Amino acid sequence: MLIANISPRSMGKTTDTGFMAHAFHEVDYPVRAWDADESQHLKQWSEAAGGFPFPVEKNATATFAEDVQPLKDGIDLVDVGHTENHPHIADSVLKIADLAILHMEPSMADWQRVTKPRTSTAISDIVARSAFARPGRQAPPLWVLFNRVRPGVNSAKEIRDMMREAGWNVFTVMIPVRDEIKQATAFPVERASRGPFGELVTEMETRGLVKHG
Ligand SMILES: Nc1ncnc2c1ncn2[C@@H]1O[C@H](COP(=O)(O)OP(=O)(O)OP(=O)(O)O)[C@@H](O)[C@H]1O
Ligand SMILES: [Mg+2]
Repeated sequence: MLIANISPRSMGKTTDTGFMAHAFHEVDYPVRAWDADESQHLKQWSEAAGGFPFPVEKNATATFAEDVQPLKDGIDLVDVGHTENHPHIADSVLKIADLAILHMEPSMADWQRVTKPRTSTAISDIVARSAFARPGRQAPPLWVLFNRVRPGVNSAKEIRDMMREAGWNVFTVMIPVRDEIKQATAFPVERASRGPFGELVTEMETRGLVKHG
């Protein structure tokens, strides 16, 4: 199966994708990570870390869907180029995605950028329009993962409730703001499955979004 990790610029895709890939790998899913961003931040992270313990491939093109055959018994996690400047990459990845995850901070600023961007297409519209290019004419399910969540601040839960009421699927697990997560993207990742990313794997399994390979 293939998971498209999408968002406007700098909302946490690469960081979350790297940790999620490690968390799935640690609990024995076959994992392949894809850097579908011209910045190649994920690929650079894996090289700086001396290589991730699973393959990290590059394909930041509008032909991603034609080039890539998703794993049948494992998970492809794709770090998609941000949608403001590279919607062609998201359009292609979404053609073959089984699940799309939107990464954002639970703040009104990110909510505005997601729902009412002024100079790009709204994420939900990008996901919805992918239906036309997919065999079953149905868009992949879209789930929201909150990251950079500050401890003891209620606004995250308020924004989650607001988004759920507006019809969004929002994961209950939230990724906290942490210096060690911020600093992690040049280093090897250890024990990702012990922390919030492990809880996210469990929530995804419980919700039937992934099956153990
Ligand atoms: N849980 C976290 N705690 C603290 N900082 C974080 C966390 N997650 C991400 N960040 C920081 O937020 C910023 C954006 O993260 P990241 O680079 O992963 O986003 P992105 O969506 O991939 O950006 P781009 O669109 O530029 O590729 C980075 O400075 C990163 O270090
Ligand atoms: Mg990135």
